[in-house]
Amino acid sequence: MGIERTQEVMNILHKNGQEHIIQFMQTLNDYERELLENQILTIDFHQIAELYDNTKRKIEIKENKIEAIPYFDKTKMGSSKKNQLDTLGEKVISTGKYAVVTMAGGQGTRLEHPGPKGTFKLDVYGKGKYLFEILIDNLKEANKKYGVVIPWYIMTSKENHEETQKFLEKHGYFGYDKNQVILFPQGELPLIDKEGKLLIGKNKLIKLASDGNGGTFTSLRTSGALADMKERGIQWVFIGGVDNVLLKMADTTLLGLAIEQKVQVASKSIVKANPQERVGVFCKMNGHPKVIEYTELPSKMAEEITDEGELRYGESHIMCNLFTIDAIEKVSKEALIYHHAIKKNAYLDEEGREVIPQEPNAYKFEAFIFDAFTFFDGIAILRGKREEDFAPVKNKEGIDSPKTAKELYEKFWNMSH
Ligand code: UTP
Repeated sequence: MGIERTQEVMNILHKNGQEHIIQFMQTLNDYERELLENQILTIDFHQIAELYDNTKRKIEIKENKIEAIPYFDKTKMGSSKKNQLDTLGEKVISTGKYAVVTMAGGQGTRLEHPGPKGTFKLDVYGKGKYLFEILIDNLKEANKKYGVVIPWYIMTSKENHEETQKFLEKHGYFGYDKNQVILFPQGELPLIDKEGKLLIGKNKLIKLASDGNGGTFTSLRTSGALADMKERGIQWVFIGGVDNVLLKMADTTLLGLAIEQKVQVASKSIVKANPQERVGVFCKMNGHPKVIEYTELPSKMAEEITDEGELRYGESHIMCNLFTIDAIEKVSKEALIYHHAIKKNAYLDEEGREVIPQEPNAYKFEAFIFDAFTFFDGIAILRGKREEDFAPVKNKEGIDSPKTAKELYEKFWNMSH
């Protein structure tokens, strides 16, 4: 049985150009080899080949399929309109029909923080605050205002799940009601090097990584979190990232706008700083809402100006999205496309020695949350303000780094209090 299975695994590896793993297996004891063989038998090599082939293909976007998409500007909205929308939003939140999801399953490779990104401490006001703590502060403020405790779902990766849980336990959930905090892990896909070879991780198994923030929908359903939301009578779900220290997770104007516009999806945008800024922007493609990555937007279009003197494709997506519970269910049953990004990932070589790359070396395959928009006819886009809504912690240094986020965070709180 064991020999037959080993032979089957060898054949699979040969057939799929993964002979380096056969060589690596020589370094393993029987138990370790069995674990690796079991894992290999679960891997979909067709999918891997397809994902790898796609890294060689250039995505072409024909200009004529793209149109500008309307948005509402929060700053230009009259106060009676804003109040009307806020009232609509407040009613949903204060009656317990609102939940928040934080996507915290990323690897945070650019930040190089050893641990889940939410456990990164931002040096604000001397004492510092963890990214998770900053999010909790925002939720607590909303809870106080609307007299509820908003259920908070945190999407982790298989890799950081335990550490995230331990961290939150250790800090007593920063005073949040622990019964209202639900952690659920997201799905995974193998990492592949530039030659299409699977990587071996430190645990002597094929190295897997979370399947992108677009994995949120399926993971919500398969983990049971979606069913839990339904049981609680949740109707609207905010889904945001872990690393924007100015993220407003209970924006009643955004929620009210979605309700007023009778759409199932809403998103906050900020205007692009300049045509070359490296952000994805909203548009309509083939009649459906879409976010085009900066790499995919032809430069002529990126520079196009409207009669009002604004960038025609100027609304950037900032991971600040709202969905109805039905919309989540619908997308959770659809297949989102996978994008690829090349990231730094340590691995074991054929001899079992750890290699720590200095440069990005492995393709990570990720579904993106905004690809979900395509499944809907309409979306409500609310333009917010950069200095109030967007201070991401992405890079170790330079733009979108702890330094810039600290400045923006402190400036916002000094101004607003
Ligand atoms: P990014 O795409 O910026 O990735 O995530 P990242 O992991 O934070 O950083 P890099 O690219 O490795 O440096 C945007 C948001 O989506 C979440 C992240 O945790 C962050 O909140 N995310 C990303 C997931 O939850 N799962 C993923 O698979 C990827």
